[in-house]
This record gives sequence, C-alpha cells and structure tokens, in this order.
Amino acid sequence: MTSWGDGTRSVRAGESAAVPGAPLRPSPVFAAPFHLGDVPPRTDGADAYARTEHPTLREFEAAVGELDGGRSLSFATGMAAISAAVLACVGAGDRVVLPSDGYYTTRLLARDELERFGVRVDYVPTTEIEAVARGGGLEGARMVLLETPSNPQLDVCDIAAVARAASAAGALLAVDNTTATPLGQRPLDLGADLTIGSDTKALTGHSDLLLGHVSTRDEELYARIQGWRNHTGNTPGPFEAWLGHRSMSTLDLRLARQAENAAAVAEVLASSSSVRNVRWPWRAGDPSYELASRQMLRPNGVVSAELASESDVGVLLSAARLWTAATSFGGVHSTVDRRAQWGGDAVAPGFVRLSCGIEDTADLADDLARALDALA
Ligand SMILES: Cc1ncc(COP(=O)(O)O)c(C=O)c1O
Repeated sequence: MTSWGDGTRSVRAGESAAVPGAPLRPSPVFAAPFHLGDVPPRTDGADAYARTEHPTLREFEAAVGELDGGRSLSFATGMAAISAAVLACVGAGDRVVLPSDGYYTTRLLARDELERFGVRVDYVPTTEIEAVARGGGLEGARMVLLETPSNPQLDVCDIAAVARAASAAGALLAVDNTTATPLGQRPLDLGADLTIGSDTKALTGHSDLLLGHVSTRDEELYARIQGWRNHTGNTPGPFEAWLGHRSMSTLDLRLARQAENAAAVAEVLASSSSVRNVRWPWRAGDPSYELASRQMLRPNGVVSAELASESDVGVLLSAARLWTAATSFGGVHSTVDRRAQWGGDAVAPGFVRLSCGIEDTADLADDLARALDALA
C-alpha cells in the first residue's frame, strides 16, 4: 500500500476485506473476557481475554503498522510504549544510549527506573549522536534510542547513519518518531529495529486520547514486546483503540494544514523583534533543514522559538485569541507550551513550543502577529 498517497493510506491502511451487510467501519467491541466454548480445547486463535487479544485493538494496530511499514503493538500511552521497547529488550548490566535533549519523561524513566534495575545509561545530544556512533561510541550498547526531530528543540539526526553504526556494534536502534508521525518519517525503512510513537499527539490529533505504539519488522522483537505488554498490562482499552483508529483517518489532511500553518507562523515569529531562535526544520536556513529535507517525507506543525522572558510569554498568551496555553502537540487546536515551567529541558525561561492546529492560516498568523505587537 506504500505506493498509494498519504490520504489514501491514512483512510484505508489495515482495512480488512469488505463483508456485505456489515458496518462500513469497525465498531468498538466492549469485552474483557470472550466466550471460550466448551473446554478443552479452546478454539485455536479465538479471543479469550482483552489484555492479550482484542479485535478492536488488532484493527487499529493493523492500520498503524501499515503506515510504519511493520507490525505494530499499541499501548495505553506513549511512555508505556517507550518503556516496553526499552524494558523488553534490555536487562541488568546492559548499556543504553538515550538523547540528552529528548522528551524529559524518557530521561526520567532512565534515571528513576532503568538505573535502579542496573541498566547503564549514557546521554548524547541529538546533533552529536551521529559523530559518536561513527567514532565507535556505541560499542557495548544494547540499545540506542533516537528522538528525531527532538522535542522540544527540533534537532534532527541521521537515522540511517546511526542504524549502520548500531548494527555494527550489535545494538538495537529504536526511534521515537512522535514529532514526525508515521507519514512524516519511516524509521524502519532507514534501518531502525523499532519505531515508537506517542499517538496522543498528531497521529490521533484531537487532544482527547492517550495512546502509544511500537512497530517492528523483527518477529522476535515483536513477540518479546508483546510479552512485556501482556505481563505488565499496558494494553489500551477498546474505546481508545477505536477512537484512535477513527481519528487517524484524517492524519494526512491535518498534517497538511498544520504544516502550512507552521510555515506561516515561523515567518511571523522570525519577523518579530521580540522573538529569537525560531526553529522549524523545514524552514530554509534552520540548522535541521538540510537533513530533515533529505530524511523526512513531509513537514508537520511543531515550531519552537524564544521570547525574552516568562512574562513575555504571559503577555503574548493574554493578547492572543487563537493560541491557548497547553502542553502536548499535534492537535487540531493551536497551542503554546512554555517548556521551562516543567523543568528538565535545557531551555531559556521564554522558550516556547508552538503546536499549529488546523485553523485557517491567515487567522492564525494574524492573531499571532497581533499578540506579538503587544510585546513591542
Ligand atoms: C517525543 C515524545 N515521546 C513520548 C511522549 C510520551 O507520550 P505520552 O504522553 O502519550 O505518554 C511524548 C509526550 O509529550 C513526546 O513528546
């Protein structure tokens, strides 16, 4: 199905054969246990218990896996997916390499949990991991996790180059592909063993769901991560899986408008004397531009920038009508998150991550320009 366009794939991925008289779209099946039939034996392949197998989850996973180009396992949140990918693959005494500038909770997972279980963690900035990998710095690592573009500073790294070095060093490569989405980047095609997403963000895109997933082409890794999910019980419920599946049909349309909005918003920000360090990897001149243009398949709506202070961010938000203070990103509503309020990211007090929604480009750009005028 990869030869079809992104719109077709968003809508039709994972679709099973049509059954005359059946609903056009799958409905959620609300069941924890299923009838087992007379015992023994249980009918081979029949669903038994929703923590380990569930038809609504299979439908959603088939769709996500097809976009990623692998087999997918869904989780209750993005962090559950990252935890599963790491903890199913590493053990005491192993070395793991993580981004020092990626999503903060991933670093908390390492600091507060992995290290407690005897896993050695090394942190490397996204812009330096390729040089570290080429220089033999992955020797002895069991797993390398990349986050590209990184959240919140939107740096990118060369997945294929790191994949070659990781493979030579005998390390597994996992990529947190949340910011890009499976339409924006296909890490499995670039040599990664695992691609991970917080589907709370753009994949589902309406700010009303928590979900995550891991996809792989390796059957052994798939089985191990599935075992982890079954044993730790991180399975999403059927309503989430159904709503996630329904929501992802519009991923192509949402990403297109979000990216159009981000291009306009980045220009508005860059032309304001109250703003510095505007970052959007698809803006010519951005430090990520060259690599993002080569490696990624399409842009998205996440932009970052720096205002002079925390209070400037407050003034901007009070003056704006369409920009709402909220964390997370990738939703249909435009939001601004002042990252320093959460701690953990090496960013200035006035650093903001803007998530462009799907409002009209002119409305969003005008509203932001008007709000920036309040700072002048
Ligand atoms: C890059 C990235 N990875 C993972 C996560 C975790 O996702 P969740 O909040 O769904 O657990 C986030 C959340 O912001 C994120 O930005």
